[in-house]
Amino acid sequence: MAAPRGEFTSRFGFLMAASGSAVGLGNIWGFPTNAASNGGAAFLFTYLILAFALAYPALMAELIIGRYARANAVTALRTISSGNKTRLAALLVGFTGIVTVSFILSFYGIVSGWMIAFFFDPIARLLGASQLSAWLTADAVMRNSLFVVLFMLLTIYIISAGVKEGIEKWASRLMPSLIVILLLLIVYVLTLPGAMDGLRAYLIPDFSLIADPSLLVDAMGQAFFSLSLGVGTMLIYGSYISSKENLPTIGSLVALLDVGIAVLAGMLILPAMYVALANGVEIYDDAGGLIAGPGLIVSVLPSLFTTMGAIGVFVAIAFFALMTIASLTSSISMLEVPVAYAVEHHGLERRRAAILIGSIITVISLIIVFNFDPLFDLVVTVTTEVSQPLLGFAFCIFAAWIWQRSEVLEEIKQGCPEVESGIFWKIWPFYVKFICPVAILVVYFQ
Ligand code: PFF
Repeated sequence: MAAPRGEFTSRFGFLMAASGSAVGLGNIWGFPTNAASNGGAAFLFTYLILAFALAYPALMAELIIGRYARANAVTALRTISSGNKTRLAALLVGFTGIVTVSFILSFYGIVSGWMIAFFFDPIARLLGASQLSAWLTADAVMRNSLFVVLFMLLTIYIISAGVKEGIEKWASRLMPSLIVILLLLIVYVLTLPGAMDGLRAYLIPDFSLIADPSLLVDAMGQAFFSLSLGVGTMLIYGSYISSKENLPTIGSLVALLDVGIAVLAGMLILPAMYVALANGVEIYDDAGGLIAGPGLIVSVLPSLFTTMGAIGVFVAIAFFALMTIASLTSSISMLEVPVAYAVEHHGLERRRAAILIGSIITVISLIIVFNFDPLFDLVVTVTTEVSQPLLGFAFCIFAAWIWQRSEVLEEIKQGCPEVESGIFWKIWPFYVKFICPVAILVVYFQ
């Protein structure tokens, strides 16, 4: 007999888990640097509109489908389909989601491994182990391999423990810590010389850029990646929510937390970059733009921390703890997608499934580490720029065009009996049916 399905035991637990999935490197690294290179607050403004007008409806589609079907992505999409063709499409979309999220995890794990290495670096320096420190911060195949394995072991460990004892327990510990560390770092960095220039670069809009198509494309990609959409993570987390919960409300809380933390992260990263500039660290690349890629995290910020003297060691530890926590609460949501499928569809025991699938993904990560130049960017582009938006599009089609509207309504009504008379039901069905799919395709083909 199949093991009983897990369920989040409280609204707080779900909120921490789902916002933990959403809040990741995309918020703390991706959002601020995207904002900096796309007109500061002009990007922020566009992002807020897109996050609530497009990403939130798509997030709701996943949560509602998940809770209705109480199953992994493949089974859930098949449950809401009728007819052989749509059931086949459901299989295809669900399975593509599983493969996509596994590949996202394979590159995310590598970057998260760097975060752990940089977390240990200031500790090594504190202990006077300068050789170890040099090894931890030098980009080398050996270091990258070891730390991606370590990061994946942590992810597998949490997922093996299940929904309540693994995901919920760890997200409920880690997410509050993340928020506290982030706030402390912001307060500290804002007191340093140069910080206000960074805040200005972030918050003063350059509206001449707002009509620029690349701003729209970046803002939408950022919103979809940030809310972990299209690959079944939110669907599977939705499948563990109690029927008593009010889905539109908790969905909007997740979106608010995600956007709120991204906006806050901007108040850390950009001021920190300008503090670095004031301390003599180079923050512009050859083309004159702000350094935004890996160089920002593994070079600009560590250089800033070293210029800060003794306190810089603790700031560095706090910053890389923040990055590691953000990564881990996201990576567990990624691994949960294929693991739930293997458990429910193939009857594998959870621990075994987590170890088996986690190991396969680790091997993929190692292949990327050993062939970094040809593979890394390719995997990032194919998964996040091609696959994720198309899958987001497909989820909207399933929720609005394939699934029966009366069933959707019944599902939402379970925890929100008055939904029919509220604003959500007046807007959302129209949005997922017309606006979201068209907007996703338009932006995609840009
Ligand atoms: N939302 C995460 C971030 O912003 O870093 C990334 C992510 C998590 C993408 C989970 C996809 C996913 F399924």
